Amino acid sequence: MKLIKCVLIFVVFYLVVQATQETNNRPIIGVLSQETYIINSYFPNETYDSFIAASYVKYLESAGARVLPIWIGQDEDYYRRVVQYTNGLLFPGGGTYFNETGGYGEAATKLYQVALEYNDKGVYYPVWGTCLGLQVLMYAALKGVKDIRVNCELVNVATPVNINDNSTGRIFLQAPSDLLDVLERENVTYNLHRYCITRDGLNQNNLQDSWKILATNQDVNGLEFVSVIEHQNYPFYVICRSSVSSGEKSI
Ligand SMILES: *[C@@H]1O[C@H](CO)[C@@H](O)[C@H](O)[C@H]1NC(C)=O
Ligand SMILES: *[C@@H]1O[C@H](CO)[C@@H](O)[C@H](O)[C@H]1NC(C)=O
Ligand SMILES: *[C@@H]1O[C@H](CO)[C@@H](O)[C@H](O)[C@H]1NC(C)=O
Ligand SMILES: *[C@@H]1O[C@H](CO)[C@@H](O)[C@H](O)[C@H]1NC(C)=O
Repeated sequence: MKLIKCVLIFVVFYLVVQATQETNNRPIIGVLSQETYIINSYFPNETYDSFIAASYVKYLESAGARVLPIWIGQDEDYYRRVVQYTNGLLFPGGGTYFNETGGYGEAATKLYQVALEYNDKGVYYPVWGTCLGLQVLMYAALKGVKDIRVNCELVNVATPVNINDNSTGRIFLQAPSDLLDVLERENVTYNLHRYCITRDGLNQNNLQDSWKILATNQDVNGLEFVSVIEHQNYPFYVICRSSVSSGEKSI
């Protein structure tokens, strides 16, 4: 009896140790939250001050990643720890201002700075921006002092992607040609934005040498805007369209 107890205790101990030691290599991606402007009307009685659209979390999880939600309104130490504990960042789409104290723009600017430092130290630390995330990355690249978004309109419209450069950019480099063909010809990307970043905006703010425009599109009034860009030297990628919807008022 004693022996059985002993063996049982050993087995339980062994299983607990095994369970706690089990590790995996799935990357952890930090996803930045944002102010609640575009969802407030759905929660009239709540006092939430930030949110992340679940679709962005599911999008990463469906590719095998794990997600660390990132708060807005924290100090620099917090954002340093976030970068230290993650393998990359995603700035989601949505809709908010960039100029608010303790807001999305401020958090993105702090995170961007740390991501630059990590890459400069030789740590591969990728950053992805979608839609509003593209706009805020340009704001962060300008050190949080200038919002270069312009008004445009492409709301609830599916378009192809006008790929200008499929040869030198990294983002399309390994894409199979049949996939690129569909991207270029079919209405397969979903657009929902009221603000855009333009080639002129990049040029006027000296971003044209550090960011490479890989694709452009036109809004309903024929305004050309940047729809896919990547950093020339850092693994930073941005697309101006949603692969996932983040609310009817998204930009
Ligand atoms: C919000 O509160 C009001 C007043 O108590 C109530 O009538 C309403 O149903 C609530 N709305 C929601 C979405 O819970
Ligand atoms: C932020 O920008 C918006 C839009 O440009 C403007 O209406 C608002 O007054 C600004 N807020 C602050 C705190 O500067
Ligand atoms: C890449 O661009 C070149 C020149 O525009 C074009 O001929 C080629 O078909 C493109 N390749 C793909 C895979 O789209
Ligand atoms: C894409 O959508 C536009 C506008 O609705 C339409 O004119 C065009 O024929 C569509 N293209 C394809 C390949 O379906």
